[in-house]
Amino acid sequence: MEFKELIQQRRSVRNYAESISYDDLREILIQAQQAPSWANTQTARVYAVQSEEMLETFREQALPEFNQKNSAGAALLVTTFVKGLAGFRDGSQVNEPGNGWGAYDLGLHDAYLILAAKDAGYDTLIIGMRYADIIREMLGIPENEEIMSVIAIGKQAKEPAMRPRKDPDEVMKFF
Ligand SMILES: Cc1cc2nc3c(=O)[nH]c(=O)nc-3n(C[C@H](O)[C@H](O)[C@H](O)COP(=O)(O)O)c2cc1C
Repeated sequence: MEFKELIQQRRSVRNYAESISYDDLREILIQAQQAPSWANTQTARVYAVQSEEMLETFREQALPEFNQKNSAGAALLVTTFVKGLAGFRDGSQVNEPGNGWGAYDLGLHDAYLILAAKDAGYDTLIIGMRYADIIREMLGIPENEEIMSVIAIGKQAKEPAMRPRKDPDEVMKFF
């Protein structure tokens, strides 16, 4: 798929017909690893929940009801970043964003992930409304990792409409 077309066709999908195989998922996650990161620290981490039994428990306990429905039928990826590395030197914050740089790098990683998924014929939904404490406990995620998104991944049942974007002149300034 042409890159422009890929960007145009990606949507947040809230209605899944099928999930994803281990092989396809692994390939997409390897592509996401190509995202740039602060001093190549590569602090993004992914916890993939694929088995039916675990998905059911995970959805029920880790997601509010509306996101349980939005992600039904899809596999779920928890993305985190290791704190205190991106944006840090010798254990000290280099400038004002601090761990914001880890979140920035994870956002880049996840952007690569959702586009690589679309290119491979899969759809995604980034989920910010999730219960991090329950997820940490359930998946044994260490305290030095910040839990950010849960990403649903699978094949859409039907294509949602494109969401509108702001007028470019409202969000850009050229000097
Ligand atoms: C950080 C982040 C958190 C989000 N959280 C949720 C969520 O909890 N539930 C949901 O249905 N959509 C969620 N979304 C999807 C957005 O609503 C969606 O990206 C936006 O409306 C634009 O639509 P599009 O992705 O189809 O272009 C989230 C997106 C991002 C980037």
